[in-house]
Amino acid sequence: MSTLLSLRDVWVEYGDRIVIEKLDLDIAAGSFVSIIGPSGAGKSSVLRLILGQEAPTRGTILLDGTPLAPECGPDRGVVFQRYSVFPHLSALRNTILGMECEQAPLTGRLFGAARRAAKDEAATMLTAVGLGDSMHLFPAQMSGGMQQRLAIAQALVKRPRILLLDEPFGALDPGIRADMHTLIRSLWRDYSLTIIMVTHDIREAFTLGTRVLALDKRRHDPHAPHRFGATAIYDLPMRDRTENSLENHTVLPLTE
Ligand SMILES: Nc1ncnc2c1ncn2[C@@H]1O[C@H](COP(=O)(O)OP(=O)(O)O)[C@@H](O)[C@H]1O
Ligand SMILES: [Mg+2]
Repeated sequence: MSTLLSLRDVWVEYGDRIVIEKLDLDIAAGSFVSIIGPSGAGKSSVLRLILGQEAPTRGTILLDGTPLAPECGPDRGVVFQRYSVFPHLSALRNTILGMECEQAPLTGRLFGAARRAAKDEAATMLTAVGLGDSMHLFPAQMSGGMQQRLAIAQALVKRPRILLLDEPFGALDPGIRADMHTLIRSLWRDYSLTIIMVTHDIREAFTLGTRVLALDKRRHDPHAPHRFGATAIYDLPMRDRTENSLENHTVLPLTE
């Protein structure tokens, strides 16, 4: 297994409230990791750590064996349940914007050849997510599923290696959700992505993941609910499913 991302003895604490305790994880390149767990378990916090938006209070996060840079990197893209696409911009402009912020952080605008290249890239990515005919629509003219497709295009146009999804399909109707599953699976393969997806839907977790991780508290103190944090209580490899890499992966059972 080639490890892309490692969390070593990671803790997240807010004051004396422990949210995550002693989380150890190795995530293989090309894997599709589903994360489930009760509300408030710290699933979004884990994604924020990986995104670099937040630093662990203890422990280390390594990307390719190197400590994670303390800011969002181009190697990580993210899609939330309700993405704040800009309402006054077309799908195309929304997608180009992702690259502009990256490449022209001061002005937020690209010009000339760089701008044409960005536009081509954005159009390619919108086509890849199925919005090839909708590039000039504004978010208000798009369904919820289309807006999530746009959010995915916006995240992928920077060509991240890791795509983080925080309950991305939770607000969509079941039929649309099935279409999104097909889409995300093909993007995962076509772009050799490593995906880490938080979901409330256990069936979705098992349908898509090469690995399903459950975050929860191992210990409860009824008199002090914040005394203990959550950690990976189950870590289940889906043996019938392979990663994007050529090797199959094996996950060792978790030890206390
Ligand atoms: N900035 C913060 N300050 C204090 N508590 C926070 C902060 N961010 C998150 N929390 C708390 O951490 C816990 C985990 O939150 P979160 O990661 O959003 O859980 P999940 O995504 O699993 O529902 C919650 O109890 C939440 O209230
Ligand atoms: Mg959350």
